[in-house]
Amino acid sequence: MDKELLEKTANELVSPGRGILAADESNGTMSNRLESVGVEPSSESRRSYRVNLFSADGYQSSISGVILFDETLRQSMDDGTPIPVALSNKGVIPGIKVDTGAKDLANHKGEKITEGLDGLRERCSEYFAMGARFAKWRAVIKIDDEIPSDACISTNAHALARYASICQEQGLVPIIEPEVLMEGSHDANRCFEVTASILDSTFEECIKQGVHIPGALLKPNMIIAGKDCENQISREEVANLTVKCLTEHVPHDLPGIVFLSGGQSDEDATAHLDLMNKMDVEHPWQLSYSYGRALQASALIEWAKSNDDSDTNSRNAFLHRATMNGLARTGSWSEKLEG
Ligand code: 13P
Repeated sequence: MDKELLEKTANELVSPGRGILAADESNGTMSNRLESVGVEPSSESRRSYRVNLFSADGYQSSISGVILFDETLRQSMDDGTPIPVALSNKGVIPGIKVDTGAKDLANHKGEKITEGLDGLRERCSEYFAMGARFAKWRAVIKIDDEIPSDACISTNAHALARYASICQEQGLVPIIEPEVLMEGSHDANRCFEVTASILDSTFEECIKQGVHIPGALLKPNMIIAGKDCENQISREEVANLTVKCLTEHVPHDLPGIVFLSGGQSDEDATAHLDLMNKMDVEHPWQLSYSYGRALQASALIEWAKSNDDSDTNSRNAFLHRATMNGLARTGSWSEKLEG
């Protein structure tokens, strides 16, 4: 394992003022998103939409890396430059989603286990040769009266650690993503409890399996009440509970935490991160973002209006969100800047 390379990449991904764009929606998810704005999904429309974002001017000041899906990593910009090469030329690190999706967990109704370990070593080796320097694997944890079960927590934690070990062996920084979903009517305390449990199990497995923590990143949910819960908490409470949970359950030698947005509104995702970084405490890790929807939702709506690969309105919508989140990295965002 090249610890020096892993630490360098991980630290670059959470360098000051910058965070990650998650553009690694699977073909199925991206097609649904395109259809939801009236665009016919195809390999070319997925490429065209993404190439438009990747061609925006200056986003590299707030975007350190982009997570791609396998299809996109193999596609090219309009001038024929392979997408990972074009990103690297801008100073943006290409990453790759390597899990093959969350499948039903046997004997556990309503719960999921993420698959993709078979052949992972070979795929990571190929992705590294194509220019990728980091990877992502997402475990999905749903909350309901009787779930998550211990089996769901332990199998997903085990798989996350196996994935992380293989990535590091192949020179890719693993983004470890145990996502506790916002769907449901649970309150924020229950979200805290479940998040603490999956974080504890995941890092216990990582340590058992020899994952080099300073060469990895964590992509967690924030501590938020379920979407259908009547007791929604304030932005300040979200920020405080999230920092408390992470401080108590994440190793302090991890270089960075890159949140997912998980269905929060664009502004909530920015405001929560901003509040965490405004706190009068020095956090042990960088607190940053790896947003998908919260960086792209408005850009996708704009792009659908023109549907071509030099859409300035879509690029501007993306640049605006990237800039706002870049400011939230240092607690310098304010609602007034949203315009
Ligand atoms: P969201 O920010 O839309 O949750 O996406 C991030 C992601 O990569 C989920 O795996």
